[in-house]
Amino acid sequence: MKIIAHRGYSAKYPENTLAAFRAAAKLPIYGVEFDVHLTKDRELVVIHDEKIDRTSNGSGFVKDMTLEQLRQFDYGIWFGEEFAGEKIPTLSEVLEVFAITNLHINIEIKSDIFIYEGIEELVLQEVTSRKLEDRVILSSFDHEAVQKVAELAPNIENAPLFANPVLNLRDYLMQVPAKALHVSLPSALRYPVRQAIKAGEIVRVYTVNEIEHAERLLPLGVDSIFTDEVELMLEFMNRE
Ligand code: G3P
Ligand code: CA
Repeated sequence: MKIIAHRGYSAKYPENTLAAFRAAAKLPIYGVEFDVHLTKDRELVVIHDEKIDRTSNGSGFVKDMTLEQLRQFDYGIWFGEEFAGEKIPTLSEVLEVFAITNLHINIEIKSDIFIYEGIEELVLQEVTSRKLEDRVILSSFDHEAVQKVAELAPNIENAPLFANPVLNLRDYLMQVPAKALHVSLPSALRYPVRQAIKAGEIVRVYTVNEIEHAERLLPLGVDSIFTDEVELMLEFMNRE
């Protein structure tokens, strides 16, 4: 079971910041995952929520602010004084951190609540300009975005995200078409996903932070887990 650092090394560093990504980049793991949104001036930024309130000292929606406005706030201090000064990273800055590694890079397109028109093309431009096609996985809860990625870049791995998967997953994946399936931890244990794994689909599971949960997933044949607790899961997998 491969390990993917969820939002960077987010148990020990403020999520989706360059500090969290630089820490993840040093670890012997399969990959890293992070979330992208579009600013008012159409810059791609890496942050989880639609609003900056939870992970910064600012307030408001990403879509309503320019990159310059978003950069005025601090995205590290909420996590610890020692992280004061972290800025919201652009997709380009994050890709630069991983360009010099061999980690796989899962970019989650957060076109969930607000539809960011054209975000797929902008993300693909960044990926292709850095020649990262072989190491990137593009995922989203917005399956139209996943479909668009499949049309625009069939050579790049794509994956629909599911909190509660549909019953006939294999047909669904063929229909999108998608190369892998990203599912929540509880749904990974249920029949539709177990069947998909048995049938040979690549399944990655979020978010696995407890050893007991990893122990449940291992015998099922799950391909990878997204975790905040990267070193804990590395220790677990090295024991197995
Ligand atoms: O991509 C896996 C996982 O990150 C999806 O959920 O809410 O953490 O973005 P969330
Ligand atoms: Ca995510």
